[in-house]
Amino acid sequence: MSEAKMRVLITGGAGFIGSHSAEVLRARGIELTVLDNLSTGHLDNLSSLGGRFRFLEGDVRDPEALNSAMEGCQAVLHLAALVSVPESIRSPLLAHAINATGTLNVLEAARAQGIKRVVLASSAAVYGENQNLPLGEGEAAQSLSPYAAQKYLGEVYASIYSHLQGMSPVCLRYFNVFGPRQDPASPYSGVLSLFIEALVQGKKATIFGDGGATRDFVYVEDVALANLLAILAPESSEPLIFNVGTGKRTSILQAFEAVREAAGVQATPAFAPPREGDIVHSCADIGRARASLGYHPRFSFSEGITRTVAWSQGGNA
Ligand code: NAD
Ligand code: UD1
Repeated sequence: MSEAKMRVLITGGAGFIGSHSAEVLRARGIELTVLDNLSTGHLDNLSSLGGRFRFLEGDVRDPEALNSAMEGCQAVLHLAALVSVPESIRSPLLAHAINATGTLNVLEAARAQGIKRVVLASSAAVYGENQNLPLGEGEAAQSLSPYAAQKYLGEVYASIYSHLQGMSPVCLRYFNVFGPRQDPASPYSGVLSLFIEALVQGKKATIFGDGGATRDFVYVEDVALANLLAILAPESSEPLIFNVGTGKRTSILQAFEAVREAAGVQATPAFAPPREGDIVHSCADIGRARASLGYHPRFSFSEGITRTVAWSQGGNA
């Protein structure tokens, strides 16, 4: 797929990953339409684009909104979701309507508009407690939360739309994404955004469990680049699934220490019982994305933390 004169719809484009992806795509000359209901996203996140995008305030649960948002687009980057695992446990029907039915709505609107390339934000959560680390894409899926089940269902629908409708979807299983603009507003926000906010503001950070749980933390600019590569990847008759991580594991305790050091503060964490539905260990095998998409993460964990802490202390995103 060529970038020249291309227009891409980003659902959830006013969010954390969406706004960084919008910047990467726009820098390549790609025209953008953003559909977002602004439930967790903010238009301020897109301020660096200086208004050079079409914005529609709307919901992926609304097929009409999706149809009009896709007008003139050649590809869709579908990021809109209810992203919190604990919230999906508390409100499974709401999460299903947004994450599962919303994704089906996106595929169906794309089919109606003749758009073949839909890039779906899936998640490492689909692997559940599978401990064959690092996790390759062929590893068994195991859904331990409604969120994980909904992301997996999105992949199943992608496969169906590929085989029955001749579409060419790409599913990206993001691991734990972090970076500037990740919103720490909710207690269920990403762990690094919560640690950074707490330590920069002189508050107590909480570790659930003993801090030995591990995650593959990937810097948001690397994820945005993976999204671009997926949009531009050649069409395929099979639905494509790729891990987007770094292949490295960091424990929650190590993550706390890294944030503490970058923030230049003396602090100790509070400890609380492990959270319901949480997986313990997670790490990506990124060999397939390297070989097929040319994806190479450029930011180390510590470089990402330094940049994110600097942003949180008032620097540029
Ligand atoms: P985010 O909350 O910052 O972004 C989600 C965006 O979608 C927000 O702008 C929000 O306003 C919008 N939105 C939510 N519900 C909507 C709806 N019904 N209709 C239209 N817009 C809606 O979260 P994020 O971290 O940028 O996540 C983006 C995607 O990546 C999600 O699909 C998420 O599940 C997935 N993902 C994120 C991570 C991570 O670590 N952040 C990891 C794996 C997968
Ligand atoms: C995150 C994403 C999810 C994504 C998944 C992919 C968020 C909010 N969720 O889920 O969308 O699909 O990665 O792997 O970004 N923790 C603490 N203290 C805190 C907060 C969390 O110790 O204040 C711990 C949790 O118990 C967990 C780990 O940190 O062990 C990571 O939690 P979190 O950042 O919420 O991410 P995931 O649940 O992995």
